[in-house]
Amino acid sequence: MRKKIVAGNWKMNKNLEEGHQLTSEVVNMVKDEVTSAVQVVLCTPFIHLNSISKLLAGSKNVMLGAQNCSEHASGAYTGETSVSMLKSVGTQFVIIGHSERREYFGETDALFAKKVDAVLAAGMTPIYCCGEKLEVREANNHIKLVTAQVSEALFHLSAEALQKVVIAYEPVWAIGTGKTASSAQAQEMHAEIRAHLAGKYGKNVAEEITIQYGGSVKPDNAVEIFAQPDVDGGLIGGASLKSRDFVDIVKAMK
Ligand code: PGA
Repeated sequence: MRKKIVAGNWKMNKNLEEGHQLTSEVVNMVKDEVTSAVQVVLCTPFIHLNSISKLLAGSKNVMLGAQNCSEHASGAYTGETSVSMLKSVGTQFVIIGHSERREYFGETDALFAKKVDAVLAAGMTPIYCCGEKLEVREANNHIKLVTAQVSEALFHLSAEALQKVVIAYEPVWAIGTGKTASSAQAQEMHAEIRAHLAGKYGKNVAEEITIQYGGSVKPDNAVEIFAQPDVDGGLIGGASLKSRDFVDIVKAMK
């Protein structure tokens, strides 16, 4: 049985006090209300990781994630954060390949392959994001593009390493736009990604990989999207900034 994981991506939001408050609310609501085995991850800004880690210490199923990392181990890379730094403050997950890193910071699949290696070598879990822009979908090239993003960043891994990766399918046209993919569109792409993994690693390995959906997931659309057989959780942006909405989304993952 593959793991169900709902992760909040706070992006560049919340000062420290606001971040602490949001974390405490989420931890308490999850403790009181979530009965399923779903794992919850809070991907906070780097600067909050150390102190939020302490707030999560007593919580079994709320874990800590970062939104990016350097591909380098250490050295003269001003402004960068290494995987060993992240690990040393209790980080367990790292988002790699988010469309905003691709779009605004020029990051590429070749770079993501190195970052995925760094995260795995540090014993953390990469959440590797893939997804097409609207014009790619309109030209009917979305499956080709997304499966290529998956092969370029992940197919150098051994089967054993791949099984430690979480994939997040996030159609770029659905991120922060209020337009979500239909549950059928999400299921179609998730099944294509899984088939692509099976083609390289075999069906048994592909069946073990958690594939999250991301892009304008809200409490009122989460139930239908999460009910799809190949959707194993969500990567939640805007709605993760409100504890009530986020925990309602977590509860939609059965
Ligand atoms: P959104 O963001 O939920 O605000 O659309 C999702 C993401 O970028 O991970």
